[in-house]
Amino acid sequence: MIFERVVRPGLFRLGGGDAETAHEWTLRRLAALSGRPAALAALRSAYAVAAPRRAFGLDFPNPVGLAAGMDKNGVALPAWPAMGFGFVEVGTVTAHAQPGNPRPRLFRLPESTAVINRMGFNNDGAEALALRLAGSRPLGVPLGISLGKSKVTPLDQAVEDYLTSYRALRGHGDYFAVNVSSPNTPGLRELQDREHLDALLAALVGEKPVLVKIAPDLTEPAIAELLRVCLDRGAAGVIATNTTLGRDGLTGSDVSRAGEAGGLSGRPLTGRTRDVVAFVHRETGGALPVVGVGGIVDPDDAKRLFDAGASLVQLYTGFIYRGPGLVRAVARSARR
Ligand SMILES: Cc1cc2nc3c(=O)[nH]c(=O)nc-3n(C[C@H](O)[C@H](O)[C@H](O)COP(=O)(O)O)c2cc1C
Repeated sequence: MIFERVVRPGLFRLGGGDAETAHEWTLRRLAALSGRPAALAALRSAYAVAAPRRAFGLDFPNPVGLAAGMDKNGVALPAWPAMGFGFVEVGTVTAHAQPGNPRPRLFRLPESTAVINRMGFNNDGAEALALRLAGSRPLGVPLGISLGKSKVTPLDQAVEDYLTSYRALRGHGDYFAVNVSSPNTPGLRELQDREHLDALLAALVGEKPVLVKIAPDLTEPAIAELLRVCLDRGAAGVIATNTTLGRDGLTGSDVSRAGEAGGLSGRPLTGRTRDVVAFVHRETGGALPVVGVGGIVDPDDAKRLFDAGASLVQLYTGFIYRGPGLVRAVARSARR
């Protein structure tokens, strides 16, 4: 409640209401806090909830993770478990450092509890992340690393690009997420096709669990084909889903923002995510663990994803609107 009444209004006013200014300010504050053990301990005692799970060979203190894209460069790592997250996914990082798309590129749609972003994988590059992680203390919760394709790399050299990142980072992540579903890198989603994905997984699957993050805009036959590749190549699981190119579910004055290019997340994605999670679970007979992400704005949304077969869940947009209280509430509702 304090978050929604006091913290959020302040954050949403920063930078004249520019969403990325608020994001940068928050990350700076969390990075500073990450070096203060007493502050971390205070947060932990307020937010950490035990609801242990085991998935793809890893132990999770609770099944609620931070979704990729929030802390792309891993600058505030200790803050996330202190705010109750049971795992953290950093990235998406690319082999080459890159600036992403021109600003503004992040837009809040508050009446719809949604966000549109076209960040375009702005990140310091895989090498920089590896250096940062090499200098960090162990996180205490599983760390996932999301890998994407550099914008300058043509699609037919994508495998080598992902491999470059993977080689730099393989000693630092507990699992790797292959992001082939961001709508903001031209051509990237084609890597979800059978041949591309087969080559990518053949190169990456090995010592660490590799999960494939999929788009909510795929048809069921396309998802079924992708799942066969994942099973054949030994992927450890699927992360469903990334942001959507669809614009259903916007309400009030947010409707006027529908023309903004980029991926939509938050409440408009809740139903579609549930359908995709249920489909993946059904289609694989539960053989492939699913991380459910998309439109979790209250604990019931997460409960429905668990009921649909998700082993774990992740939050992004819900965390922007509800803060760490949402992490705690979802983790509590997952206790059994
Ligand atoms: C600003 C922003 C940046 C994102 N960046 C990434 C990213 O780098 N890699 C990725 O796999 N997903 C990224 N995502 C997608 C989220 O991880 C998540 O899949 C999606 O937003 C749906 O979850 P939500 O409705 O809880 O936000 C991003 C989302 C937002 C809003």
